[in-house]
Amino acid sequence: MTIRSVLKMGDPRLLEVSAAVDIIDAAALEPLLTDMWDTMAAENGAGLAAPQIGVMQRVVIFGYQTNSRYADAPPIPQTVLINPVITALGEAQEDGWEGCLSVPGMRGVVPRYRDIHYRGFDQYGNEIEGEVSGFHARVVQHECDHLDGVLYPQRIRDMRQFGFLDTLSEKGVIELQPCDDDP
Ligand code: NI
Repeated sequence: MTIRSVLKMGDPRLLEVSAAVDIIDAAALEPLLTDMWDTMAAENGAGLAAPQIGVMQRVVIFGYQTNSRYADAPPIPQTVLINPVITALGEAQEDGWEGCLSVPGMRGVVPRYRDIHYRGFDQYGNEIEGEVSGFHARVVQHECDHLDGVLYPQRIRDMRQFGFLDTLSEKGVIELQPCDDDP
């Protein structure tokens, strides 16, 4: 079990576009995926993207059965998604609070497509796809943004809805934080 350190906003690597995985080889990917799951679990995260641990490849993971930090959020199946492609289903967007392990201690309101279709590959090279909505769709969009060097603060429309989690909670601005890859 290796918990890797997570790059923080300000590290130029988080702004890079990651490379597609050319050859999807489960054995070769296993050490990376193990580290990603271990790191995500250690932080009670809902998702993690490979570039967040300095691996500039188009690999994301997300999902949990139960998560004490998202008591009201429905479980999301644990998913490995490689070379993902997201398509919005309709124009509808929703605002929601997000956080990020790479932006620790902060939360901001981010608009995301409510309904999306995603496709990509699992670690065995099988094509996978899904149609997801709401928080699940938010997590997928957030994680895949990391592969294009986009951090959620870049997507905040109203910077007045961006702040420190402890203060937002203390002041009652946030009750539950249905956030993303940050605890
Ligand atoms: Ni993130």
